[in-house]
Amino acid sequence: MIRVENLHRHFGGFRAVDGATLEIAPGSITGLVGPNGAGKSTLFNCVAGALPPTSGTVLMDGEDITGLPPHALFHKGLLRTFQIAHEFSSMSCRENLMMVPGEQSGETLWNAWFGRGRIRDEEAELLKKADEVLDFLTISHLKDERAGNLSGGQKKLLELGRTMMVDAKIVFLDEVGAGVNRTLLNTIGDAIRRLNEERGYTFCMIEHDMDFIGRLCDPVIVMAEGKVLAEGNIDQIKADERVIEAYLGTGLKNKETA
Ligand SMILES: Nc1ncnc2c1ncn2[C@@H]1O[C@H](COP(=O)(O)OP(=O)(O)O)[C@@H](O)[C@H]1O
Ligand SMILES: [Mg+2]
Repeated sequence: MIRVENLHRHFGGFRAVDGATLEIAPGSITGLVGPNGAGKSTLFNCVAGALPPTSGTVLMDGEDITGLPPHALFHKGLLRTFQIAHEFSSMSCRENLMMVPGEQSGETLWNAWFGRGRIRDEEAELLKKADEVLDFLTISHLKDERAGNLSGGQKKLLELGRTMMVDAKIVFLDEVGAGVNRTLLNTIGDAIRRLNEERGYTFCMIEHDMDFIGRLCDPVIVMAEGKVLAEGNIDQIKADERVIEAYLGTGLKNKETA
């Protein structure tokens, strides 16, 4: 579905992404892991339109989408999640789903989609859809809660929910599990799996928690120093000497031997 070919993104002389080549198969939940600073988020930003690549190509279903802005990708069904913007923290969860954020970090695309003069039928339709999404995510009881009052994990669920208000094909998730407690992490994992199985969403997710990755993702792609180092299922990745070496001193091996 997505093919990234020899992608580079340099910052001055520094090669944050240094010739990465990878594929994301349709229907997969592909994991992207690697030590801090490996270039994972930069790669995501290049693919999802937040940063222009220095060089290289991104294809979606064979079509060149390199450097397209977020709203153009959005209309192709390629989405990444955004943090709930500060201004929307006083709005309810339901309202956040119905009409989403403003200017920063490429979020204007939501306005392009939702901000058109709406007639009442469309609004009723949106309301219905928002309630279905809340139900799917098991947070119906929070529909009238202000987004600002949600826990970190509940916010992540709401962010995921926003991708469900449109017809997403592929969703990029950058550390959706960071700082989220076990119970909510499982809820988020279930939502991702169900979106994948029941709605055909393809996912590519950056995550540090290897257990979480292992339960959801196949394949797992490992990046280090701006390049793709290895790819395989979680067991292959964990057993790969090059991967262990790249992680040495940063957790994976330590955790396993603990
Ligand atoms: N806007 C930027 N300007 C300069 N350096 C950056 C910028 N964004 C990221 N970097 C650098 O690029 C490297 C890769 O960062 P990042 O893609 O965030 O890694 P990861 O997500 O794998 O932890 C890091 O060394 C980071 O400091
Ligand atoms: Mg990152």
